[in-house]
Amino acid sequence: MIDDALQPRPAPDGVGTLWGLSVGPGAPDLLTLRAHRILTTAPVVAWPACRPGGSSYAWRIVRQYVDPSRQEQLGLVFPMSKDWSQLIPVWQESARTLLAHLHAGRDVAFVTTGDVMLYSTFLHLWEVIEELDPAVPVLVVPGVSSLTAAAALAGVPLGQGDERLSVIPATWHEDHLREVLETTETVVFMKVARVLPRLIAVLEQTGRIGQAVLVSRGTAEQQIVTRDLRRFADRRLNYLSLVLVARRRSFLDRLRAEAAEASVPPAP
Ligand SMILES: C[S@@+](CC[C@H](N)C(=O)[O-])C[C@H]1O[C@@H](n2cnc3c(N)ncnc32)[C@H](O)[C@@H]1O
Repeated sequence: MIDDALQPRPAPDGVGTLWGLSVGPGAPDLLTLRAHRILTTAPVVAWPACRPGGSSYAWRIVRQYVDPSRQEQLGLVFPMSKDWSQLIPVWQESARTLLAHLHAGRDVAFVTTGDVMLYSTFLHLWEVIEELDPAVPVLVVPGVSSLTAAAALAGVPLGQGDERLSVIPATWHEDHLREVLETTETVVFMKVARVLPRLIAVLEQTGRIGQAVLVSRGTAEQQIVTRDLRRFADRRLNYLSLVLVARRRSFLDRLRAEAAEASVPPAP
């Protein structure tokens, strides 16, 4: 069952559906079967581009599955900027381009790296579309996110038993980074590319540098998966980089230690 309030809106007659399509972290075979079905049948496939005519990582993952003779290919501008006053009008313009297709009854598949619901451009677009036309149906296809891909590549769990997991952009102030490292067993730092030296310093201060793995362009060509973070401290890292800090498989040791402690008879 699903609450009425959480049910997807039915599409009004003649209006297409906007699909937020998760396409995974890079390897094309990490696309889900559902994403593949929508991708190969939607009349319009759109992607976020930094500038007009630009490509994107998500588009490069999926373009081999798109048929230009049947499907329109649409790069929409979403600049990489923190100037919100300029961003919102550009997002609105991109949303209006999409709405023209949706109002003409065409479904649009908007592709997103990793999983749509985790720090994606689609989330901004969704809000803008909702403001401009709340009747447009929006559906999301979940996917493999960079977090789960990185854990698989590094061979370390994101959480085992009762362990806690935190996910935080590494661009936060170092006091926050330190706090999560001191209170959480597993931490995933997103968006590390420009702040790696600062993050390395915090990892050293908290004694967790030995548990850290840097994953850059994970599962894609030219991927980097390494525990030697210092080697990349003064190099230009790809934007698609994260640092995973996790205990190596030590859960059984912890259980044994707890069991041994419980079996010790209380002191007389
Ligand atoms: C805007 S967020 C998008 C996250 C994405 N929606 C997901 O589910 O993984 C971009 C950040 O995700 C991380 N990221 C995305 N893809 C990655 C990959 N293939 N390898 C390593 N990190 C990745 C990086 O930290 C990057 O700065």
